[in-house]
Parts: sequence; C-alpha cells; structure tokens
Amino acid sequence: MSRALPQVEPDPSLPHRVTVYEVGPRDGLQNESAVVPADVKAEFVRRLVAAGLDTVETTSFVDPRWVPQLADAEELLGLLGDTGRGAHRPVLVPNTRGLDRALAAGVGAVAIFGSATETFARKNLNRTVEESVSMFAPVVERARAEGLWVRAYVSMCFGDPWEGPVPVEQVVDVCRRLMDLGCDQLSLGDTIGVGTVGHVHRLLDALDAAGIGPERVGVHFHDTYGQALANTLAALRDGVTVVDASTGGLGGCPYAKSATGNLATEDLVWTLDGAGVETGVDLDALVETSAWMAAHLGRPSPSRVVRALTGG
Ligand code: HMG
Ligand code: MG
Repeated sequence: MSRALPQVEPDPSLPHRVTVYEVGPRDGLQNESAVVPADVKAEFVRRLVAAGLDTVETTSFVDPRWVPQLADAEELLGLLGDTGRGAHRPVLVPNTRGLDRALAAGVGAVAIFGSATETFARKNLNRTVEESVSMFAPVVERARAEGLWVRAYVSMCFGDPWEGPVPVEQVVDVCRRLMDLGCDQLSLGDTIGVGTVGHVHRLLDALDAAGIGPERVGVHFHDTYGQALANTLAALRDGVTVVDASTGGLGGCPYAKSATGNLATEDLVWTLDGAGVETGVDLDALVETSAWMAAHLGRPSPSRVVRALTGG
C-alpha cells in the first residue's frame, strides 16, 4: 500500500510559498543528553539538504563549556565542506570569539540570539539584555562587513518560565534594538511553547507598527503545549513566510526550564502540502531521515506525522 498523502486543497489565506528554516542539527541536537558524533551530524545535515530544505542551521559557535553537545562545530563544518557554506547554512554565534571561529570555518551566515527577558538573558548569555545587545553589536557589524547574512533570534517572546507573561512592548523593544544593529531577519522565539494565536497576531501587528514587517520575520515555535502548528498558521496568515522547524520535532534549550521540542518539520510540511503551499521539501525523504536519526538517538520521534507515516 502506498503511504497516505494529504489531499491537496489550496488555502488562499496562506502564502504561495513558505521557506522552511530547519533547526534540527542545532536546536535539536543541542538539547540531547548524548553527544551525537560529528560524522552522524554531518550525515544528518546532508540528508536534510537532499530532502529539499531551503535553509539548514548547522551548529553553534558558543562556549563549548556551555553547550558541550555542539563543541565539535569546527569538525562538523570541516566534514560538511561546501554543504556547510553559503547564506543558507547559518550557525549561532553569541560574541566576537564565536564569529572569529565561524569565519575561520568558512560560514556564510550567522545568527545572534537575544532575549526579551532579563532572567533568560542572564541564564543563557550571562549578561543583562543591555549587555547582550552590546555583545552582539560588533558581531553584526563585522559579519555584515564580511558579507555574511545575519539573523537575530529573540527568545521568550510569548512568556518566560521565571518572569511569567512578557509585555508585547518589551518584546518589540528588544526586537527593534537587535534589528537596528543591521540584521537581515528576525526570528520570534516561543522558547517554552506557551504562545497562542491571538498573541501571535498581537505581536506581529506591534512589530509591523514598529517598522518590522512580516517579510523580515520568521517564527520559531516550540511545541510544549501543542500550539506550534496553529501559531505558525496564524503567522502565515499575517504575511510571515519563514518558519523554523526541526525534523522529527527534536529541540529545546538547555538553559530554559520547560523548553521542549520545536514544531516538527514533518508536521509543518504535511499541513503545507495539503494546503498546496510550496516548500520544496520531500516529505518521504524527511520522514526517512527522522527515523534514521531516532535510531541513533535511541527513541522515537514525538512528531505525530512521523509516527503515522512510519506505522510507529
Ligand atoms: P561567559 O562565561 O560570560 O563568557 O559566557 P566570557 O565572555 O566571560 O568568556 C569566558 C571564557 O569563555 C573565555 O575563555 C572565552 O574565550 C570563552 P577563558 O579566557 O576563560 O579561557 N568563550 C568562548 N569560547 C569559544 N567560543 C565562544 C566563546 N565565548 C567565550 N563563542 C557566552 C558568555 C555568551 C559565551 C555563554 O553564555 C554562551 O556560550 N552561551 C550560549 C548558550 C546557548 O548556546 N544556548 C542555546 C542557544 S539559544 C536557544 O536555543 C534559543 C533559540 O532556539 C530561540 C528560542 O527557542 O527561543 C535560538
Ligand atoms: Mg529554540
């Protein structure tokens, strides 16, 4: 029997094409208790690229004592060669030390990662929000001078496990400050997955009013409360066309209590395939990759689509 496919019924409220920004190798593997060997990571990235993903975030050049899971960034980029280079293979860098390492490894795109809240800025970056903006400024300046594409993540946009609700104005203020450094794209992080659809509209409206239109925004929903896909559709209906997702639904942040996996790329692609939205992604190849990675990690994917399509 051939596998189930969603029946295609175009939804005119959605964009014609969506760019999937795959974060599995970075957000996914940074959160695994076991360190995945560099050659397995390289094979993971190659398979994701072969499955048609537009953008694959490969790793992080952070302090390896903070995230030992990604301490092999140089080795991974070496194994990837040209597959790890170019504007569609970003890496995380927090500071100029990270940028130096990323440039030496030949990357073509970087992402800085700020926080909408003081508590998470301290826990994740050992800095206040103000100090972290000062840490990022020379990174963005030099990255741009070197011709790199630059993304700015902002975490805790929809709630913070220590501070609770986060005022929309506070989120917009941090987003504005990071984009004013000269970043090309903003990614709104729902680090602990507490956002809901009205909140998504409200934040996108407020950003638009502050001069950051949806064409410069990506959304990054963790799926803790099962809201990631609904929130993504809300954002797409507001004009966003870049969606972060993680193959197999891996992901989380070691420095954020209650951060679980990202929106699974397969769940996203299933929905978009059904709605006639182009992504360029081959769902079969992606599901195969998830099953392969799950075997390495020793546990099944939390993605409902992966489970349904693999009979698991
Ligand atoms: P710090 O301890 O304040 O660093 O950490 P420092 O500047 O004081 O430097 C201390 C030492 O670390 C020095 O070495 C530096 O050279 C070294 P020493 O002189 O003592 O021997 N060092 C580095 N080494 C290699 N690469 C570097 C680097 N930087 C410093 N880049 C720091 C500050 C920002 C470095 C640290 O807090 C850090 O690495 N944090 C990263 C945390 C992280 O990666 N979190 C997960 C990613 S964020 C996320 O997942 C959220 C997201 O998905 C969106 C969402 O879901 O919301 C993006
Ligand atoms: Mg994340």
